[in-house]
Amino acid sequence: MKRILTLTINPALDKSTSVAGVVPFKKLRCNIPIYEPGGGGINVSRAIKKLGGSSIALYLSGGPTGEHLNELLDQEGIEKKIVKILDWTRENLAVTDTVNEQQFRFGMPGPHVEENEWKQILEELSLLLREDDYVVASGSLAPNVPIDFYAQVAKVAQLKKARLILDTSGEALKIGARAGVFLLKPNLGELSSLCGVSSITTRNLESLALKFLKEHQCSAMVVSMGSKGAMLVTPNMVEHIPAPTVHHVSSIGAGDSMVAGMVFRLAAGQSFSEMANFGVACGTAATMTPGTQLCKKDDVEHLYQWLIRQKANI
Ligand SMILES: Nc1ncnc2c1ncn2[C@@H]1O[C@H](COP(=O)(O)OP(=O)(O)OP(=O)(O)O)[C@@H](O)[C@H]1O
Ligand SMILES: [Mg+2]
Repeated sequence: MKRILTLTINPALDKSTSVAGVVPFKKLRCNIPIYEPGGGGINVSRAIKKLGGSSIALYLSGGPTGEHLNELLDQEGIEKKIVKILDWTRENLAVTDTVNEQQFRFGMPGPHVEENEWKQILEELSLLLREDDYVVASGSLAPNVPIDFYAQVAKVAQLKKARLILDTSGEALKIGARAGVFLLKPNLGELSSLCGVSSITTRNLESLALKFLKEHQCSAMVVSMGSKGAMLVTPNMVEHIPAPTVHHVSSIGAGDSMVAGMVFRLAAGQSFSEMANFGVACGTAATMTPGTQLCKKDDVEHLYQWLIRQKANI
C-alpha cells in the first residue's frame, strides 16, 4: 500500500443545527449544534478512514476554532500534520428548517493567511512527501493565498516524484492543473471552465478531456456527472461508469467520498478502471447518508459489487 497525504489550505469547523422554521427578524431557537471537521482534503482523509485505510492530513489551523478542529480529527483517529496560523480557522454553518425541510448552508471565506504560513505548508509538504506517495490537494483557497498555490504544490510533488490528485475549482484549478498533475476529478462545470468552453455535452466531453490530457502533463481524468456517474478518460481508454440507482438522501460529501475511494484504490496498486468504479461506488454511497455524512463502507462494498456485475454483463 502506498502512502496517502491530503492537503487542505482552507479547512473549516462545520457547525450544523436545526430550527422549527426559518423566518426573518425573529429570534430563532436552534437545537444543540453538532460540530464536524470540514474542508476538501480533510474530508478525503475522513472518508479514507471509513473505508479502512489511513492517510496523513496536512492543513492550516488557527485559534480556538482550529483547536476544536484538531480535537475532532483526533477523535476520529486521523493522523495529522498541522501548520499553525495566527488567524482563526473558519466556521461554516448549516441550518435545517425542520418545518419546510430545507437546509441553509452558510460558507465563510476563510482566515487571513500570512505569506510565511502558506509557504510553511509547502515546506512541510516537501518534508513529508516521498517518492510514489499520493497527495490529494482539495478545496478552495483562503482569500489571500496566491491563485497559483496549487501550481506550487504541483512543483513540490514533481520534485518529490509523488503523484498529485487535484480537486478544486475556478482559476485555482485552471492554473494548478496546467502545472502538471497525476489525476484530475472535475465535475462537468469544472471541466468546462478548465477547457474554456461554456457547456459540456456527452458529445464533446470525451474529446475535450482527451485534448487536455494530450496538451498537459496529466495521466487521467475522472469527470464526475452527479446522478449520471462518471467518465474515466486516459490517453488509451474511455469508460463510462453509471451511478447505481439508490435512495437519495443528501449529495453533500459525494465528491470528497469519490476522491477518497479513488486514491484508496490507486494506493492499493489497482488500475484506473478499478479506481474509477470504486470512486463512483463511494460517491453514490455518500448520497445515501444524511447531511454532511460521508460514505459508509458497507454501502460502498455493495455498490461496487453491483458495478462489477453490471460491467461483466455488458
Ligand atoms: N444523485 C446522485 N445519485 C447517484 N450518485 C450520485 C448522485 N450525485 C452524486 N453521485 C455520485 O457521486 C459522484 C460525485 O458527484 P458529483 O459529480 O456531484 O461531484 P462534485 O460536483 O465534485 O460534488 P461535490 O459538490 O461534493 O464536490 C458521482 O460520480 C456519483 O457517483
Ligand atoms: Mg467537487
